Amino acid sequence: MSESLLAARGLTIRFGGLVALNEVDLDVAPSGITGLIGPNGAGKTTLFNVITGLLQPTAGDVRYDGRDIVRWSPQRRGRAGIARTFQRLDLFVGMSVRDNLRASWEASVPGGIFGRHARDGAALVDAMIERLGLEDVADRRAGTLPTGIGRMVELGRALCTRPRLLLLDEPSSGLDGTETARFRDLLVEITGTAQHDRPAPAVLLVEHDVRLVMEVCEQITVLDFGQQIARGTPQEVRHDPAVIAAYLGDSGAELTGARSTELTGARSTELTGARSTT
Ligand SMILES: Nc1ncnc2c1ncn2[C@@H]1O[C@H](COP(=O)(O)OP(=O)(O)O)[C@@H](O)[C@H]1O
Ligand SMILES: [Mg+2]
Repeated sequence: MSESLLAARGLTIRFGGLVALNEVDLDVAPSGITGLIGPNGAGKTTLFNVITGLLQPTAGDVRYDGRDIVRWSPQRRGRAGIARTFQRLDLFVGMSVRDNLRASWEASVPGGIFGRHARDGAALVDAMIERLGLEDVADRRAGTLPTGIGRMVELGRALCTRPRLLLLDEPSSGLDGTETARFRDLLVEITGTAQHDRPAPAVLLVEHDVRLVMEVCEQITVLDFGQQIARGTPQEVRHDPAVIAAYLGDSGAELTGARSTELTGARSTELTGARSTT
């Protein structure tokens, strides 16, 4: 693998007695889409929170673009080009779609948004609305939109910061089949196309739709109970006995690619439940 854009080493974080991440290593390539999967409660969102600076790890370090960022504030990481979306939609519900995107862009511009800057921002927001197919809802309040469109708005908000590294936390959750397919195409396009004056962002994708992950990712890291249990290409990961075992029974069988996969079904809920009682 070429030099990683993001390299986390030995990340450990405890919540009371629970070890949510246990010496986890993660590499994100400087381009393309890297996958992060694992059953419910595996620690995926926690890992995102550590990478974005919302949580401080108990041990371990995070290098981004060659720099140790583990003590950086979330804001500083954002300015350095790290953006994310949330598993639960996080939009300004009372604002229009356009204003959601605009606010996100404004927050990402160091030193103010006057004159030429402001015109650049308006152009960027317009281009993003078009790119994401949000023209018809651009003036609607975000809180009135169905989930599928809300997810697009959240993606747009993240992209309007012109990120170098984009972390997506279950972006297809709440999307129907057609929307998921469209989202997949969009993701491939976004990571394959430079935007404005910036190179295309690298993506770290957390997804419960394993088929989607297998289709778009070059490398996949698998977590279970806060441990990295596998890492490799989609082919390597889907045949890995530890990965199949992590998903148990039917869900594990689905991993081998027989049919479309939802890994957050009843069995992985049982897994989460089992853990919280141990
Ligand atoms: N702030 C927190 N306080 C206590 N426990 C937490 C906190 N955040 C996550 N956890 C626990 O850490 C584990 C990993 O959670 P999470 O990272 O959300 O998993 P995933 O995103 O893979 O489903 C779970 O057992 C969860 O209950
Ligand atoms: Mg999660």
